[in-house]
Amino acid sequence: MSSITGIRHDSSEEFDEAPSATVVPIDRAGREPAFDFDVAIVGLGYVGLPTAISYAIAGVRVLGLEISTRRLETIIDGQADLLDRDQARLAEALSGGGLTLTNDHAELATARAVVVCVPTPVDDFLIPDLSILRAACAMVVDSARAGQTLMLTSTTYVGCTDDLLVKPLAERRLEAGRDIFVAFSAERIDPGSASFEQRDVPRVVGGATPECEEEADRLLHLYAANVHHVGSLAAAEMTKLLENTFRAVNIALANEFADICSSLDLDINVVIDAAATKPYGFMAFRPGPGVGGHCIPCDPHYLLWQLRKSRVDAPLIEVAMSAIAHRPKHVVERVRDVLSDRGTGLAGARVLVVGIAYKPNVADLRESPALEILAELREHGASVGYLDDHFDLIALSDGHILQNVVQPSSFDPDLIIMHTSHAGVDLEWITTDQLVIDATYDHVAYPQAVNL
Ligand SMILES: NC(=O)c1ccc[n+]([C@@H]2O[C@H](COP(=O)([O-])OP(=O)(O)OC[C@H]3O[C@@H](n4cnc5c(N)ncnc54)[C@H](O)[C@@H]3O)[C@@H](O)[C@H]2O)c1
Repeated sequence: MSSITGIRHDSSEEFDEAPSATVVPIDRAGREPAFDFDVAIVGLGYVGLPTAISYAIAGVRVLGLEISTRRLETIIDGQADLLDRDQARLAEALSGGGLTLTNDHAELATARAVVVCVPTPVDDFLIPDLSILRAACAMVVDSARAGQTLMLTSTTYVGCTDDLLVKPLAERRLEAGRDIFVAFSAERIDPGSASFEQRDVPRVVGGATPECEEEADRLLHLYAANVHHVGSLAAAEMTKLLENTFRAVNIALANEFADICSSLDLDINVVIDAAATKPYGFMAFRPGPGVGGHCIPCDPHYLLWQLRKSRVDAPLIEVAMSAIAHRPKHVVERVRDVLSDRGTGLAGARVLVVGIAYKPNVADLRESPALEILAELREHGASVGYLDDHFDLIALSDGHILQNVVQPSSFDPDLIIMHTSHAGVDLEWITTDQLVIDATYDHVAYPQAVNL
């Protein structure tokens, strides 16, 4: 067993783009190839790092490949945004040799299996940005060896694993199911939540061939307790898109019901809690200031984008995604209305946003509605601030830098927007005479809050 620890550095040192690939000779002699590592994880972000840790604590020899030197240093320094239990496991895996970090893509050839966990964002026009995934897959294909299992876990369009792995591998005369094994199994992790251990969440897997699916099943079972087979790459890719589109549509519906309840002077939480007493046919989704993170605001657009090519309409999903995209503007409109009712306007008002991460207990700002809310308020002349100890400084879309307010009383807000409720945050400073819009809908905590 390999006992290599610490970071292995690529000779080219820091690089921001995928490095040019090295072709590794293919073992065509039918021998069982020798591998230094059982699994290589490509991309050590919110998904890849916990996945690498899960494999390592299961006793698997893991190679973590990360393109960003800064991210590697953050991981080594114990500063990665992880649950406390995962931070301890990471330290154990790194010191015990179960996890080796590298930025050298050529080392992928030393792993029996390669798991791709790189981002699949959308651009400003809500068009899928596949550049990172394409670069990562090209790198994986170029370093591929016979006998490896390659698994894509990034959320993506239906047909992507075939386009980016199976076909390019065939061009290298590595046929899926014969020379090499290719599968798709989307990650279902919920970063920042201690409610579910990664190993307890069932994995859905589809292979390019039945043999590929069997190999992927073995790979997943190294740490996951349950694996559900769907028989094809496309069905596995579509399953992930359904899961997150389902959430997006239901969040849009919850927001709409919140607005309806507000107009009828009803408490949306009372209504949702009551509906949730039904033991079947209802699942509670809560309203909020919008959605953020790397999944719900992005994933349904991968489906919508691909449907446009075949001229297939998905009006329900289109409307839900449009409503979700508009939600932060709704918050700003509400701030304007509430201040107008008080005889003031947005211009010159001091507005403090409390909690700016896209969800509680993570230091993740990606696609957070708070960013758009702060930028819009500023555009309309408000003086804005935020309170969130996860972020010392943030940059708004217009380049304006904001600093965490730390002492809210010194900011002296005219209006407070409760945006994200991190656990353990002291909110005692909010007095009952302060104007609060509670976009978290947690009216028990802020009884004086006005509806969103
Ligand atoms: N974050 C979530 O909650 C979540 C949950 C389930 C699924 N997903 C999906 O998982 C995928 C990864 O998301 P994430 O949140 O972990 O992204 P992330 O941005 O947190 O991490 C991705 C990492 O990959 C690295 N990277 C990019 N290209 C690379 C390359 N060629 N080689 C090595 N490293 C490379 C980046 O530097 C980054 O550190 C996405 O498709 C996302 O939709 C995310």
